[in-house]
Formats: sequence, structure tokens, C-alpha cells
Amino acid sequence: MTEAEAIELAKKRIGKRPIVLVGLMGCGKSSVGKRLAFKLNLQFVDADEEIERAAAKTINEIFADHGEEHFRNGERKVIARLLSNGPQVLATGGGAFINPETRRRVKDNAFSIWLRAELPVLMRRVMKRDTRPLLREGNPEVTMQKLIEARYPIYAEADMTVDSRDEPHDTIVNEIITRLATGSEGAPPSAIEPNPSRTVHVELGDRSYDVLIARGVLRDVGALIKARFGTVKCGVVTDENVARHHLATLENSLKSEGVFAGSIVMKPGEATKSFRDLAILSERLLELGLERGDLVLPFGGGVIGDLAGFAAGILRRGVRFVQIPTSLLAQVDSSVGGKTGINTPQGKNLIGVFHQPSLVVADTAVLTTLPPREMRAGYAEVAKYGLLGDAEFFSWLEANWQSVFGNNGPALTTAIETSVAAKAAIVARDETETGDRALLNLGHTFGHALEAWTGYSDRLLHGEGVAIGMCMAFRLSEELRLCPPGTSARVAKHLKAVGLPTKIGDIPGGKADAAELLRLMGQDKKVKAGKLAFILVHGIGQAFVTRDVAPETVLAFLAREIAQ
Ligand SMILES: NC(=O)c1ccc[n+]([C@@H]2O[C@H](COP(=O)([O-])OP(=O)(O)OC[C@H]3O[C@@H](n4cnc5c(N)ncnc54)[C@H](O)[C@@H]3O)[C@@H](O)[C@H]2O)c1
Repeated sequence: MTEAEAIELAKKRIGKRPIVLVGLMGCGKSSVGKRLAFKLNLQFVDADEEIERAAAKTINEIFADHGEEHFRNGERKVIARLLSNGPQVLATGGGAFINPETRRRVKDNAFSIWLRAELPVLMRRVMKRDTRPLLREGNPEVTMQKLIEARYPIYAEADMTVDSRDEPHDTIVNEIITRLATGSEGAPPSAIEPNPSRTVHVELGDRSYDVLIARGVLRDVGALIKARFGTVKCGVVTDENVARHHLATLENSLKSEGVFAGSIVMKPGEATKSFRDLAILSERLLELGLERGDLVLPFGGGVIGDLAGFAAGILRRGVRFVQIPTSLLAQVDSSVGGKTGINTPQGKNLIGVFHQPSLVVADTAVLTTLPPREMRAGYAEVAKYGLLGDAEFFSWLEANWQSVFGNNGPALTTAIETSVAAKAAIVARDETETGDRALLNLGHTFGHALEAWTGYSDRLLHGEGVAIGMCMAFRLSEELRLCPPGTSARVAKHLKAVGLPTKIGDIPGGKADAAELLRLMGQDKKVKAGKLAFILVHGIGQAFVTRDVAPETVLAFLAREIAQ
């Protein structure tokens, strides 16, 4: 497609609506907006300049003379007027989209694009200027971080999210035009659902439950719980990172429906999945006065889900729990299926119970605050579902992964829904892993050994270990002539494009030892009568379980992998 054709298609998809750019100060709304308008042959309008013109004062003067509220009122009116002016590119001030009335107007009448930038990028850009009233007082970096925490979940409601990186503005503009032209949101903007939402049912007889996936659904958790469970008491369990960004939203939602008992905030990280923390947590849940009919709400990544799910499983011999996963890994994997547990010095997840949640609520908007490395690690589990049983899904991911990461819209929802549906189907067939469920461990036998070798440290996240492990499972299958040559290269190419490690040598620090890795693999709980279980493949989407790989074969393979 030539650039002219892309521009033509992009304009067609936008139709008569204005394009509205939203995001924090320093994210590049004016510079990107001007170039985008130029390319699309549209007028560029800066809402802040219009406000200054209407008031015949600078924004700083409006703030100083009349205060922020007066400014916000004027901003709301000016934007309402500008939105009725037809096709144009409109850059809005950082707070404009936060106003619910303006946000609704933008959703109804325009196509919105959030230019998302990380804190260091924003700081580098804004510190060059001295015109930002909100950064005048206190430590500007702390203020900006607070604005990120408060506003990013709301900006995420825009129709498209584009990463505003330290790259030439034209690169970003071209990305916007290409994504508009190719409909890489998964659908033309006119068909983009303002709030894509899906429900996946996990069929387990009288322990069946729903997984609700929707952007912004966190605000509705209180009402959902009241509607499904009546007036119960909810004990929220979360970690410090998630609490900082999202706990107030969840607590408010529960309080407004009268179902809030209290929140317990744990330290983030794998070390929290311990006997010590389980004991502390169990006692604190009892102190909240939770009774048999009440609910535990694990609100966090897989660590909090596994720990608090386990606590729910043993509290008063088992109380119900509602998983509210906040990492991509937890949304597509750990929150569904009822495996709960903690780690011991003998290994990961060796103590625990099967305890199914009564409901899972996954808000895709909370993923906007997840560190990018964690997002990529979670994506490894998404790719896993394609690789183990759904070749078509893997091809879709190869074509759409940028939208999955970028737009917080239908592509992300589709990826989560497809993953959860795949897991739900396997769990429904084999709840306690006597057969098929082991397929979900594709890449995990190698991955767990690598995690143990790196001491469960920052050197390797769980999902990164899975990514390397999956590449190894494909390479071993190819060496054993179980799958066609070239398959493992295709898998590695995709995971590498996403930014995931694909071989042992990608793990920073220290060189691995084949015998040591084989020993660590032997500690996996999938070992039966001393024989290692491997998930190998006949091709993409065709995984199977085998115990027929001789230890010498694995040892030689590991040595070759380490040498790569
Ligand atoms: N039960 C299962 O079936 C199952 C399946 C797979 C993995 N797991 C377990 O899951 C754990 C890994 O889960 P994880 O990758 O989610 O790790 P995690 O819970 O440690 O979360 C990763 C990091 O992201 C932070 N975080 C989470 N959500 C955030 C958000 N929205 N914004 C900002 N920060 C956020 C956390 O505080 C943490 O620092 C492992 O213990 C693994 O054993 C369990």
C-alpha cells in the first residue's frame, strides 16, 4: 500500500469525525497533531490556544486569576464547541479527557487517540519548558507520577493507544495512519466498540463460573458482586504496586454497594507466596470478620491470586473468592482454573489446593499501568495457547501483536478472551490435571528449571522462562523429527519480535550448566516415578505429552542449547 493509499483509507475510516488527541503534557499532542493534520490535509486545532483566545489570557493567567475549576469549565465549553466543527485534528489539554462530560462527547462525536508515554520521556520533554501550571509546585517528577497513576486508566478509554517514544514524530504519525488504514484495531474505527466486553464460561458443574473481560469494569465490581452474591462482606487482598494505582477505584466501588470489609496490602513479588505470608494473611482475613458466606477478593497478579486463592481455600475450611487479575499473565492464565498455592524451599507451587473462584473479573484498562516487561512476559502465555492447540490464533497473533500491545481495545480483548476460552476448555476436560491439562505446561518444564537456576530473581520473569522453554520444546521436537524443520525458527522469530528472550543465552549474568538444569528439571512436580514429562509438538498448535525422552538425549540437547 502506498502512503497516498493509506492516507485515503485512513480518512475514509475516520469519516466526518474529528480526531482528538489525548494524553499528558509532554506526550507530543501538538507536534504529532500538526504533522498528522498536515498529512491528512485537515486543520490542526490546539484546544489550549482556543481557550487562551476565548479568555484573552494565557492558561497560566487563567489558573492564577480564577483557579483550576474556572479553567476546567471554560475548557469543557470550548471543546464542546470545537467538536461540532467536523473533520480536524484536535489536541486537547491533559485534563480535558478526564472530565466525564467531555469524555462522553469525544466518544460520541470523535475518534480519540491516546499518546501514551513513560515517565522519563515525559519528564525530559516538559522540563525543557516552563509553562505548565500543574508542575509548578513540589517535586515535578512526583507530581507527574501521580498524574500518570490517576489519569492513565481513564486515557485508556480512547479508541486507539499509540506509544509516544523518543522517535521522530513522523514515525508515530505514520504508525497512526497505517493503523487507521489497515484497521489493525481489528475493525474499522466506525465499528470499534467503545467498551469491548466478553464473557467466557468455565463449565465445571456446580463449580462453574464466568470470566468477565471488559475495559473499565473495575468501577462496577461492587455492583456485580451485589447482583451475583447479595450483601456479602469482601476482603480485598492486593500488593503495594497494584494498591498504588487501582485500590481506591475498587474500594470505592465496593463501598458504594455496602460490600466492603477491608483491604490487606502485601509486599509485591514471588517471595510473598510463602508459608509466612499465608499465615499473616489468613489471620488478617479472620480479623476482617469474614464468615463462610463472604468473599475474598485477590486483586493483583499471579502471586496475589495464588496466595489469596489458597488462603480462601483454607479459611474456615473454604470460603468463596472472586479473582480480579491485574497482570496480563493473571488475566489469561493464573486467575482461571482453580490452582492456588505457595512456594517452599523445595520448589515452586508444591503446597496448595484446587479451589475454583466463583467469578473472575478482568479489567483490561488496569494493564495500562503494568510495566512493559511484565506485559511481554504475560504475552508469552497468550502465545502459548496458540502454540499448544490453535495454529490459527498463533497466525493471528503474528499479524496483530502490535495492536494487542498498543490499543487497549478489541485486539487486546480478543487475545485475552481466546486465551481464557482455551484454558477454560482444557480445565473443563481435566480439572485436576490427570491428562490434558498438562498441555498448559508447554515450555514450563524447561522454564521452571531456568527460573530455579536464576533463583527466581529479576534475571528471569516466569513468562520469560516460558518463552525460552517453548522455543526449546519446539527445537527439541524438531531435533527428534517430531515436527517439520523451520517451525521452531518461526516461533522464535515471533517471540523475539515482541521483545521476549528465546534462548538460554538471552538470560543476563552467569553461564548455565546442562547437568544442573537437568537436575532442576527433575524437581518439577510433573515428574512421575522419576520420569520427566515433556510437552512436545508435531507442529504449531499440535502439542502432546510424552515421558519417552531419555535423560541422555535431554542432557545433550541442553548442552547444545547452552552453547548457542
Ligand atoms: N495458578 C495458576 O494456574 C498459575 C498459572 C501461571 C502462573 N502462576 C503464578 O503466577 C505468578 C506470576 O504472576 P505475575 O506474572 O502476574 O506476577 P506478579 O503477581 O508478581 O505481578 C508482576 C508484577 O507486576 C505488578 N503488577 C501487577 N498488576 C499490575 C498493574 N495493573 N499495574 C502495575 N503493576 C502491576 C506486581 O506488583 C508485580 O510487581 C507466579 O507465582 C506463577 O507461579 C499461577
